[in-house]
Amino acid sequence: MAGRPQVAKTVTALRREVARWRAARETVALVPTMGALHEGHLSLVRLARRRADRVIVSIFVNPAQFAPSEDFSTYPRTFATDVAMLAEEAADLVWAPANVSVMYPDGFATRIVPEGPALAGLEDAFRPDFFKGVATVVAKLFIQAAPDVAVFGEKDYQQLRVVTRMARDLDLPLKVIGAPTVREPDGLAMSSRNVYLTPDERAVAPTLHRVLSLCAKKIAEGRPIDTILAEGREAIERAGFVLDYLEARHAETLMPVGSIKDGPLRLLVAAKLGKTRLIDNVAV
Ligand code: PAJ
Repeated sequence: MAGRPQVAKTVTALRREVARWRAARETVALVPTMGALHEGHLSLVRLARRRADRVIVSIFVNPAQFAPSEDFSTYPRTFATDVAMLAEEAADLVWAPANVSVMYPDGFATRIVPEGPALAGLEDAFRPDFFKGVATVVAKLFIQAAPDVAVFGEKDYQQLRVVTRMARDLDLPLKVIGAPTVREPDGLAMSSRNVYLTPDERAVAPTLHRVLSLCAKKIAEGRPIDTILAEGREAIERAGFVLDYLEARHAETLMPVGSIKDGPLRLLVAAKLGKTRLIDNVAV
């Protein structure tokens, strides 16, 4: 086991450490998280480890990406366990702003606002301020840590696309890398929010991935997308979910698609089970 990672709580402390590495010509990877770490997050850390000499994991529950009705105050916070898990993965540094005003100083008045087709429909229709909050904090993390690469999970597929687009649009000198979704043995995508599920809901939750995979298989076989998605929506609602969306989109642009020939395709879903909102996606 490697030693415990350092914890930087201010931008100054973070930059001091990164400058030391840079002076030694070491490359740097960043893995942004909101903590409550699980195997999905750790898989990103392992990928980052392979891509750079030094790995920074940020842990910051970002208020700007939660709507007032959402779970900012109750979002799981497990900092000590997170740091212990990161020690096992030999992360070099945990970037954990001491408080919200380290990230958003008094009078904060600047935001990154993603626009364009990748934003139409999907998450944006249900969480209208979400990607403004994500893009703003991720841009800040990129500027603070100045990494060579940043690793994001495909679990949050639209987020991965929005962040990739932002980095390209703003000429940010880093490479955004996507990592595959890590799942429980029954197919449920790992998520910090899965702890909200009651035992009954937890038993139903894997249906989401099962339906998604079945739809992807049928669409890949050439069956009409509209019909298959209509069946999929019905199956998800029958299982007890309240569906936000089940959509087929172009895997890179996230533009709507009419047929398999418009591909490569990605199926994306969001649905509520009781109080918990789950998202998932698969390639076709
Ligand atoms: P968070 O939900 O903590 O996720 C941090 C990173 O872990 C994201 O890139 C997410 O896609 C990835 N991840 C989560 N579950 C995963 C799984 N089962 N398999 C693979 N990767 C997984 O996403 C955020 O935080 C925030 O929006 C953030 C980018 C940190 C900005 O605040």
